[in-house]
Amino acid sequence: MELLKQRIRRDGQVMAGNVLKVDSFLNHQMDIRLFGEIGKEFRRRFEGCGINKILTIEASGIGIACIAAQYFDDAPVVFAKKNPTKNIAGEVYTSKVESFTHGRVYNVIVSKRFLGPEDRVLIIDDFLANGCALMGLIDIVRASGAELAGAGIVIEKGFQEGGRIIRGMGVRLESLAIVESMSEEGGVVFRG
Ligand code: G4P
Ligand code: NA
Ligand code: NA
Repeated sequence: MELLKQRIRRDGQVMAGNVLKVDSFLNHQMDIRLFGEIGKEFRRRFEGCGINKILTIEASGIGIACIAAQYFDDAPVVFAKKNPTKNIAGEVYTSKVESFTHGRVYNVIVSKRFLGPEDRVLIIDDFLANGCALMGLIDIVRASGAELAGAGIVIEKGFQEGGRIIRGMGVRLESLAIVESMSEEGGVVFRG
């Protein structure tokens, strides 16, 4: 998605430790016009898939998913909650996520009331790095009996493992910008 790549080139900052800072338009301050264009691009890529629910994860995925949902016949957005506690009581789907980036383990949880076999789900998130969070969401969709139409990611870090693993699982993964490499001196290089 050219508009997105231009924006990353213009306003993204490459930080130490392979972190791409995009908090001026994507995951802290949010450019809603850009989010609209992102939503339209997800619609273009997943048109005709019969998506009736969008699943994301708190926190940064929520805004993107909500704007995108407007282009999917106002499909409801469900966001998975991150729960640090070990024992989860009640009617929830749960999956354990190990974040290498943050060096912590947490459960992602979704109420069984909001996901089931009648759903055709599009997963949306801001970043794909190692893919642990996305794998947790895929687990939950499978446990629910819903059909997974695919996953839409705004920025994939192509030099980390997530994309290869998720595509290898046969999941349709659409990333709007794939970063091939980046450095503080050379900036961001996109794939393709
Ligand atoms: P993991 O496999 O190590 O868990 O990596 P994952 O892709 O799940 O990323 C961990 C967290 O770090 C995610 O946010 C993700 O959005 C974020 N992240 C990964 N790489 C980058 C990057 O280069 N730049 C920025 N800005 N963020 C990155 P989170 O902590 O799970 O949630 P949120 O509350 O920020 O949404
Ligand atoms: Na995220
Ligand atoms: Na994030």
